[in-house]
Amino acid sequence: MAAASLSLLLLIAAAAALLSSPALSLTCESHKFSHRNVTFANCTELPTLKASLHYTYDAAAKTLSVAFTAAPASPQGWIGWGLNPTATGMVGTQALVAFDAANGSTVVKTYNITSYGPISESPISYGVLSKSAESSSGGAITIFATLKLPEGSGAAVNQIWQVGSAVADGVPVKHAFAPDNLASKGTLRLDGAAEHGGAPAPSPGGGNVNVGARNWGIGFGMYGICVVLVSIFGF
Ligand SMILES: *[C@@H]1O[C@H](CO)[C@@H](O)[C@H](O)[C@H]1NC(C)=O
Ligand SMILES: *[C@@H]1O[C@H](CO)[C@@H](O)[C@H](O)[C@H]1NC(C)=O
Ligand SMILES: *[C@@H]1O[C@H](CO)[C@@H](O)[C@H](O)[C@H]1NC(C)=O
Ligand SMILES: *[C@@H]1O[C@H](CO)[C@@H](O)[C@H](O)[C@H]1NC(C)=O
Repeated sequence: MAAASLSLLLLIAAAAALLSSPALSLTCESHKFSHRNVTFANCTELPTLKASLHYTYDAAAKTLSVAFTAAPASPQGWIGWGLNPTATGMVGTQALVAFDAANGSTVVKTYNITSYGPISESPISYGVLSKSAESSSGGAITIFATLKLPEGSGAAVNQIWQVGSAVADGVPVKHAFAPDNLASKGTLRLDGAAEHGGAPAPSPGGGNVNVGARNWGIGFGMYGICVVLVSIFGF
């Protein structure tokens, strides 16, 4: 009994070490934008889902140029990144989602995420000055975009990122509910004052910003656990 518990502990520790191994991350240093002549002022390795964000903020023009890189949860899946101007969770996020289309090109679409139901392509509240995406041979996808932030937007924005395992008829299918999927949000400082992190930027509307994360979980807990197990034993 004690031995079994110890084994379980060791297994969990090993899994944790594996999951947080920097070698698996699409790090700021390792990633190359193969087909593009683009550089960014800053880069942050996001704390979950082995994702990274290169970005340049032009404070005078209020434009934020980003290159978000992550690997979809499966080769037929999708990656997404966005800003949430009203809250820290998923609902309200103005998102860019990219995936490989059937014809082999990598497409990127915008989504105004208004609920936890299926999402549909739509305009977003930020000006999208450019957007494109590319897949790398290693299976990662990078979304390139330049967004125009509204006058009066603060020095910190709420960012959300995500990966999913499937796209059905051009529509990204709901992502898993593993701990990493839930924790994939944080503050992006545009003034260089502090690191990114899990701490949310203050919500302009105030109020109940965590409601979303809880609701998202209903009905998906078991699936999330399965995904974690696959992650642990799949590597
Ligand atoms: C890349 O962009 C820089 C700045 O716009 C330019 O000076 C340089 O010639 C470009 N290089 C290539 C290979 O296109
Ligand atoms: C490939 O498919 C996507 C999505 O349907 C479409 O937007 C794109 O124009 C297509 N590209 C080519 C080269 O046919
Ligand atoms: C996004 O959806 C919300 C809720 O339906 C709506 O109020 C808002 O105007 C939409 N934003 C855009 C840019 O369409
Ligand atoms: C980006 O990098 C530049 C140069 O290292 C630094 O001055 C600036 O504060 C950084 N900006 C952010 C938002 O981290």
